[in-house]
Amino acid sequence: MNVGTGTSGSLRLRFLLAITVWVALGIGGIWFTATRVFATHIEDMYHEELEVHVRELARLTRLDESGAPRLSRPLSDPRYEVPLSGFYWQVSIEGQPVLKSASMTRGSLDQSVAHSPDVAHEIEDGPTGPTITYGLLEEAENGAQVHIVIATDKSELDDDIAAFNRDLVVWLATLALLLLATGVAIISFGLRPFGRLGDAIARVREGRADRLEGSYPSEIAPLVGDLNAYIRQNNEIVSRARVHAGNLAHSLRTPLAVVTDEAERLRDGDSCSTSGKVLLEQAEAMQQQIDYQLARTSLSAGAPVPGSRAMLPELAEPILKAMRRLHPDKQFELAAPDHPVALAIDPVNLSELLSILLDNAGKWATSSVTLAISGPVGGLVTVKVSDDGPGMTAEQIAKACEIGTRFDPSVPGSGLGLAIARDICTDAGATLDIASGGTGLTVTVQIAGE
Ligand SMILES: Nc1ncnc2c1ncn2[C@@H]1O[C@H](COP(=O)(O)OP(=O)(O)OP(=O)(O)O)[C@@H](O)[C@H]1O
Ligand SMILES: [Mg+2]
Repeated sequence: MNVGTGTSGSLRLRFLLAITVWVALGIGGIWFTATRVFATHIEDMYHEELEVHVRELARLTRLDESGAPRLSRPLSDPRYEVPLSGFYWQVSIEGQPVLKSASMTRGSLDQSVAHSPDVAHEIEDGPTGPTITYGLLEEAENGAQVHIVIATDKSELDDDIAAFNRDLVVWLATLALLLLATGVAIISFGLRPFGRLGDAIARVREGRADRLEGSYPSEIAPLVGDLNAYIRQNNEIVSRARVHAGNLAHSLRTPLAVVTDEAERLRDGDSCSTSGKVLLEQAEAMQQQIDYQLARTSLSAGAPVPGSRAMLPELAEPILKAMRRLHPDKQFELAAPDHPVALAIDPVNLSELLSILLDNAGKWATSSVTLAISGPVGGLVTVKVSDDGPGMTAEQIAKACEIGTRFDPSVPGSGLGLAIARDICTDAGATLDIASGGTGLTVTVQIAGE
């Protein structure tokens, strides 16, 4: 029963959400640090390399007779020779033609970068886009200020960093997917005991077990222990209640028998016959109630007792045998499927129910009674008891299940059968339907089963 309980989302979903956030934080952190570290590292390498080049250029610079700059030999890096390669150099002296690398087929570099004997660098517009420019100021033997400038396209550096980032994103995305997949596997593994617990509870509810079976992790084992204790306690309470009710009925029986006895004497006497009759009627009513209560308490009362399960047609065989003996002039037929069906009802209760219905059918049938078992369909087993007797009118059917109701005084009985049958069905969560057709009466019971 789900009364009073609600669901507050799925545990699996919560874990999944937590793992997703965890993986996103981890992978995001790795990505951020790795790109930072790589960018700094590669920038440092660029700076070092270009500082070496600018110093080499300074070393190779000579002045010719006219004081114009010349290189004693080309720079060792061939990229300065390829036109617009992104690697440029320039040597300039005030009042002299500017000496440029072969790669610089257009544009010029800003010589003001070179303003001290220390290597300085800044970003500026170069022949092929923004460049990182390195400058160094040297004094020639003749006292002239020589501006030595070397530049590399910034896009070279940016391309290297972008390529690294692309690779990194692919790797990290794969890693994230792997981590998420492992996370899902871990969640499923971790939640497995809850699935088993759910199955065990279902088995108890369906009456296939009388306790929660299996072993569970230490975190939920105490809960399972408590639940088992609760189920056991519940069963004990139910049986104790039955015993108490039985005792109560028995203890009333004897005094009531005395009252009945006395009333009979009064009735048969001349003087107080009217009051005797009243006494007798009342005593009979009490007797009927007690019989009813006694019949009820001798059965499994209350909600379906965990662990109770009745098998058909096995359970019906001895009842049919007894009925054939009780009503020897009537035919009792059984129509059951080949396979046995298990019903979620206490076997004692089902026996009582079948006895009541078959006995009624036997009492009123003209010649034959049929017990038909079918299903399960949609989790329900159908049990039908039909006879070829007179049946009942709609008004009679409406009243038939009340305590003490009898429509045919010529046939012996106490009018309790159908009342008890109705109670058994209510307790087992089954439905009881009485219908009068052309051939007699059919009582249909539907019980959960498999
Ligand atoms: N199969 C049936 N065909 C016709 N009438 C029926 C049938 N079953 C029950 N009845 C009617 O319903 C009444 C109530 O049935 P119920 O089983 O409760 O009492 P009972 O059979 O008279 O007595 P008890 O079963 O307590 O010995 C019966 O007295 C009878 O009139
Ligand atoms: Mg009856």
